Amino acid sequence: MTDDVLVVHGGAPLHGQIRVRGAKNLVSKAMVAALLGESPSRLFDVPAIRDVEVVRGLLELHGVKVSDGVDNGELVMDPTHVETASSDEINVHAGSSRIPILFCGPLLHRLGHAFIPDLGGCHIGPRPIDFHIQALRQFGAIVDKTPEGMHLTAPNGLHGTKLELPYPSVGATEQVLLTAARAEGVTELRNAAIEPEIIDLICVLQKMGAIITVHTDRVIEILGVSRLHGYHHRPIPDRIEAASWAAAALATRGEIEVLGARQADMMTFLNVFRSIGGEFEITDDRVSRPGVTGAEGGIRFWHPGGELQAVALETDVHPGFMTDWQQPLVVALTQAHGLSIMHETVYEQRLGYTDALNQMGATIQVYRDCLGGTPCRFGRRNFKHSAVIAGPSKLHAAELVIPDLRAGFSHLIAALAAEGTSRVYGVDLINRGYEHFEGKLAALGARVERL
Ligand code: EPZ
Repeated sequence: MTDDVLVVHGGAPLHGQIRVRGAKNLVSKAMVAALLGESPSRLFDVPAIRDVEVVRGLLELHGVKVSDGVDNGELVMDPTHVETASSDEINVHAGSSRIPILFCGPLLHRLGHAFIPDLGGCHIGPRPIDFHIQALRQFGAIVDKTPEGMHLTAPNGLHGTKLELPYPSVGATEQVLLTAARAEGVTELRNAAIEPEIIDLICVLQKMGAIITVHTDRVIEILGVSRLHGYHHRPIPDRIEAASWAAAALATRGEIEVLGARQADMMTFLNVFRSIGGEFEITDDRVSRPGVTGAEGGIRFWHPGGELQAVALETDVHPGFMTDWQQPLVVALTQAHGLSIMHETVYEQRLGYTDALNQMGATIQVYRDCLGGTPCRFGRRNFKHSAVIAGPSKLHAAELVIPDLRAGFSHLIAALAAEGTSRVYGVDLINRGYEHFEGKLAALGARVERL
């Protein structure tokens, strides 16, 4: 048991306003992109989360001067003097995040070699990096895997290539973008991920001088350029955090306005939220509050009273229902009338957290079969990746141990929705992706305290 414990007195609706900042899954990648430039970059609205600290630490080890800008959340990264870092120093960051793998291309371009520590991130399946390695080799990198980490060199430089991903992986698409932008010649990537965070990374690279075309049918073409410069960028808002608070509003029968949340990035989520019986309003000041100036808009989510309805859903790559929306929403589905189905098709082991919900009174059964929709790659492969949620269930307090980031937040939502006092162990993990979550809980009237 860890000693970072949150005591949660549940059973009361959350009410109020919080704000989300730049998306964790863009900000960290945009920070890596800064390494490719020959002049400083400025990133705004950067959340104070652990993943940002990890990338900042790695950039600094490689000679990038990182400082806080004048704006709250502004980060200035000066990559003028990139240098080799010792593998011992880099290994301090081993196991802390998935982002270090994305340093491969930029470091190969800047230094001709790279060392990547053992990766971390959430334990939600085996999370292989075979697509990354295959892509890097096609660009001309020599990849040497050792027990201490991965050494890469590119004795003949990096050259554009034709690639097709076996699955539209977010990380592998980013790997290709960050490597191809300065590789010699043209790269054509088929079956690419097209998540909003990917498009925003392409915007960052375009600001830096890259030439990247997004064609139809998941084809991205990158015309390599020899030099890139720094960028100024305000990232897209964190649509995973926004959906997590929306689910918290529904599960606790409350009302939360998520300032900064953007409708366009969340359409699929909003449709599902509405199908269950949740209500939302786009609080874009220019439209819904004529006459109000200076205030910031977002999306207001609430439980309108009455019964919630069960739904059948499957997670998918964009524009499907995000895998990271799944865990918080399942907590809300424990309160819906009837049988809901959640078929997880992105990660094979992302339903383990439902055991804890069952201990709290939920009725969730997990299956190996692909339930509810189209068969996925995990069917008949012994992975319990479909869940049937029977509701509504009265949740009661429990002792909970946080297993990973998104599941952790869903445990927290369950504790907030449950009657009684829960203890949630390992809450510091939530700082990896949710900025100041304890302050936000307090602002929403949650009764929580550190043990
Ligand atoms: C990113 O992970 C996000 N992480 C994840 O968010 C998110 O769940 C995921 O994309 C899907 O949207 C970051 O951006 C830091 P993938 P990533 O490569 O890039 C398989 C969070 O909580 N695969 O799209 O690692 C893989 O196993 C995190 O914020 C291979 O088989 O995800 C998975 O089944 C959790 N080989 C599928 O592809 C590879 O080489 C999708 O993974 C790479 C991936």
